[in-house]
Amino acid sequence: MKALLTLLLTLGADPLPEPAKLPALADWPDPLTALDGTKITTPEAWKTKRRPEIARLFDHYMYGAMPKAHGPIVAKVRHESKTSAMWVRELDVAVGPDAPVVRLLVVLPPPGRAPKAVFVGPNFNGNHVVLPDPGIAITKAWVYPDRMNSKNNQATEEGRGKGLAQWNAPMIVEKGYGLATFYGGEVDPDRGEERGGLQPWLRARESHSPDRWGTIALYAWAMSRMADALAQDPATAKAPPLAVGHSRMGKTALLAAAMDERFAMSFPLQAGCGGTAPSRGKIGESVKQINDRFPHWFNSRFKEFNERPEKLPFDQHHLVSLAAPRPVLFANAVEDSWANPAGQFEVLRAADPVYRLLGAGGCDAREMPALGALTAGTLGYWIRPGKHEMKTDDWRVFLEFADRHLPGAR
Ligand code: GCU
Repeated sequence: MKALLTLLLTLGADPLPEPAKLPALADWPDPLTALDGTKITTPEAWKTKRRPEIARLFDHYMYGAMPKAHGPIVAKVRHESKTSAMWVRELDVAVGPDAPVVRLLVVLPPPGRAPKAVFVGPNFNGNHVVLPDPGIAITKAWVYPDRMNSKNNQATEEGRGKGLAQWNAPMIVEKGYGLATFYGGEVDPDRGEERGGLQPWLRARESHSPDRWGTIALYAWAMSRMADALAQDPATAKAPPLAVGHSRMGKTALLAAAMDERFAMSFPLQAGCGGTAPSRGKIGESVKQINDRFPHWFNSRFKEFNERPEKLPFDQHHLVSLAAPRPVLFANAVEDSWANPAGQFEVLRAADPVYRLLGAGGCDAREMPALGALTAGTLGYWIRPGKHEMKTDDWRVFLEFADRHLPGAR
């Protein structure tokens, strides 16, 4: 109680206190108690008071504030192919004048069959792995070593189509959805040593300091810019964007949906620490481990919680709450204990009161479901046998969840 009182007093201050001055909260903080101690009891108070406050805390203490939206967004079709089953387009997207191009691969049902919604998310290895289509560009950006036929940190022709079983684009369009994906490394190469991609362009336009955006926030920002590009394209303008991603890109997908209300649903897959798992969790990756191995993912202040995650004035259920009232699905694999599947279920449970307050349903399951059973409710949970990877089984359940929750769905 005393700790809570100190939290409320210190956080009521502007600017926000140094991490060391925050009180330790062993119990997860309540998303429905505002910094000044007010209990949030109406949707209005949530929207106008508490939601912006929580977004500010995540910016300040963890992900770092995202860049501004620059624009105008210019998207040019650089490749297009059509079959009776699928319409493939790759767009060169510039997020502002003279910005380096990020390529957005957009896979849609054939023209004339409007997509019900479009899954948007960053990929790990380049757009060319998603489909064996020879017209899709091979990224020139730095890529992870020895993945999908990369050589010397460069993507190669041999990798083309190698990610078909991860992305499942044919199944997605067959079910009436679209997929829009870009290579994260074109936005920001995922390595600690050197910043590239859009970073130099952004930093020439607005000041960056270590307490501002890390790579995860920048990827999430890029998801919003890709949603801008899709919104101005007649082929996708009417289709709601759905945020999707695996692992570090799953952390990204949840953050994007939390901060940008256009994402109508989110599908963070095996996202774990720094995304869907509790920072106060005792299973799997810790705040210290993630910050030590991936110092560029979060901002400088987050590192100050390495030894004391219980000083965080939020936990990851607050991030889910920012996505309310929109549906969120946490998907996991049993062997992936690094991502703390059980802790993730508790995160959903702890976000439930915010969804209920907004009259948006919530996490109907009281206990973790059996393997392979998708739970009912706006906050869905699913866990399958197997390990840390994205595969067809995951997409089957994403599509089932999307079908259940799209407006006007059965
Ligand atoms: C590492 C990291 C995780 C991350 C994962 C991934 O395992 O510790 O936090 O989710 O990489 O992105 O594949």
